[in-house]
Amino acid sequence: MDQPPQSLPAYPPLADRGALLAELERLIGAAWDSFDRPRLEEPGLGRELEQRLAQPLPEHGTDPQAALADAARVLDESNSPARPLYLGYVGSTGLEVGVLGAALAATYDVNLAATARAADLVEAQALQWVAQLIGFPLSEGAFTSGGMTSNMTALLVAREHALPGSRAQGFDGTKAAVYCSEEAHHSVVRAAEAAGIGERGVRKLPIDAQRRVRPADVAEAIVADRGAGFTPIAVVANGGTTLTGSVDPLGGLADVCADTGVWLHVDGAYGLPAAATRRARDLFAGLERVDSVTLDAHKWLGIQKGCSVVLVREAGALERSFGHEESYIRRTGTVNLVERTLEYSRPINSLKLWLALRTHGAAEFRRWIEHTLELAAELTRRVREDAEFELLHEPQLSTVCFRHTPDGVADLDAHNAALADAAQRDGRVFLADAVVDGNRCLRVCFVNFRTRTEDVTFALEALRALGRDLS
Ligand SMILES: Cc1ncc(COP(=O)(O)O)c(C=O)c1O
Repeated sequence: MDQPPQSLPAYPPLADRGALLAELERLIGAAWDSFDRPRLEEPGLGRELEQRLAQPLPEHGTDPQAALADAARVLDESNSPARPLYLGYVGSTGLEVGVLGAALAATYDVNLAATARAADLVEAQALQWVAQLIGFPLSEGAFTSGGMTSNMTALLVAREHALPGSRAQGFDGTKAAVYCSEEAHHSVVRAAEAAGIGERGVRKLPIDAQRRVRPADVAEAIVADRGAGFTPIAVVANGGTTLTGSVDPLGGLADVCADTGVWLHVDGAYGLPAAATRRARDLFAGLERVDSVTLDAHKWLGIQKGCSVVLVREAGALERSFGHEESYIRRTGTVNLVERTLEYSRPINSLKLWLALRTHGAAEFRRWIEHTLELAAELTRRVREDAEFELLHEPQLSTVCFRHTPDGVADLDAHNAALADAAQRDGRVFLADAVVDGNRCLRVCFVNFRTRTEDVTFALEALRALGRDLS
């Protein structure tokens, strides 16, 4: 058979790689510079670029420099959690060293489904480092694309623990249940749906004055369910709720789970990094007794998406749930990582975190997380002292829900929804509204290490001015 001529490869490398890499370096550097301070206004896309974004598929290639420039413009005009006043949802920092890890990982594009050789070691070390950071007795774990997948992975492990063989025999989830607080993230419901338990099987238990589930309620629900012929699959505790950052009492829940033999999972996608700090550590007392945890490094550890971990205390639990051998996946004595996760083809997302932990060290991460906790405490103090704002809950971590209550505004729900809209249009402070105990409010979450103490004042005053314009 004729060989293709060596001088004309079927896939030509990019012309002028050096110039493109230099341009990429310039674009990334400009973005990093712009993340150092809050931006006073959004740049806008411009009509010409908007028109280009509506064009059909190009049949022939175009200038990569021009495409790169458009891509950078689009991203610069998009909501980026790396900006210091992105305070909506649960953001991140987009640590600079993570960008280097992402670029290297994409360059080599290793696949962690089958063993990728040396890359497996980075994955394993990064899992150990996360466990050491938060004080969890890890036996095994996996990197996943996000908190949803980590929670789902843990629930499938819990299912196999509660009903051994259910993964092979099939699972009639009509008589199974999962226990969590009414403020658990919806991913718990979605995971229950996907695991065959269904939303119907999710017992959303009421919260106490500190917005935490009561262990006694969980124990009672488990006993009642067992009496009615249900199999309890797992208790899913909040390691920081999305709405207010509340942490369920892990020690009390661990007692209940030890007494009843039910799997205890902690959804710490957002909040679990706080367990590494002196300031918040006590909230997580009992963590060493839980069976599995979810932690999103792409939230409070500042790593780029997607980078989540599911950590498990018992050795062999993941393989019991996902292990298999196939003739098309070579086994070479070591376990293929696909036997410990739900996903198949998987990028080396751990590399970003591994590089960040190695470059900055645990002490720096602890200091950064403490700083964001202090930002929330500072905002809480200011809101409490300000007659024009009202605090809607007692913050435990770095999330604060409050509302603007100027004189003369009759419908505070409508006013605060309009204020969140105005803030998003204005662009200086990015936040979203939320509802706490039936009250529409402004919700901010401090997880960005770039946010400075003076930014709290700036954000509050910007919100006050926008709110006054509306009232
Ligand atoms: C507590 C909690 N669990 C799970 C998730 C889902 O995580 P992800 O978006 O990474 O899938 C979130 C997202 O904000 C969360 O706050």
